[in-house]
Amino acid sequence: MAAKLKGLSEKLLVSHHDNNYAGAVKRLNAIEAELAGLPKDAAPFRVGSLKREELIARNSLVLHEAYFGNLGGEGLGSGRLAEAIARHYESVAAWEQEFRQTGKALGGGSGWVVLGWDAHRGAAHTYWLFDHTHSPTGVVPLLVMDMFEHAYAMDFGSNAAGSIDAFFQNLAGAELDRRAEACGAK
Ligand SMILES: [Fe+2]
Repeated sequence: MAAKLKGLSEKLLVSHHDNNYAGAVKRLNAIEAELAGLPKDAAPFRVGSLKREELIARNSLVLHEAYFGNLGGEGLGSGRLAEAIARHYESVAAWEQEFRQTGKALGGGSGWVVLGWDAHRGAAHTYWLFDHTHSPTGVVPLLVMDMFEHAYAMDFGSNAAGSIDAFFQNLAGAELDRRAEACGAK
């Protein structure tokens, strides 16, 4: 995790990483241990409850790793990901506007904004995820923005838009291009 970011304090980042991300990792391990220990004739509702929690913790882990990993640079840049975006949107600026507005729509609530490579569409596309159980099937996350209040309120209060400005200033362009390359985004 990058500790020094523009506009996002170390205190916020460490709290976010150590409580929310690490909490999801711990929870996932505990849930999987419980699942492994269930008797073969366990009631379906017990299995179902744990499988639901497994999904929530697993998606939280994956999305947080993508979120922290896409910070620590100087911005999106004009590499592989920007090229893919430009192919599927009117322009990179038009895509950014929609991505930011999607984030603002989650301000004061909770959720994620994910630009992903959507193999079904054959395109890069921005999705709105209200919580950890909303995840578009078959979409590889490329750029992930955490809009849960724990991701910004310590520094920005309820100013979600200010936190989105800071998010864009810190994008790790090289990592984003690597992700786009790895999933064959074009
Ligand atoms: Fe988070």
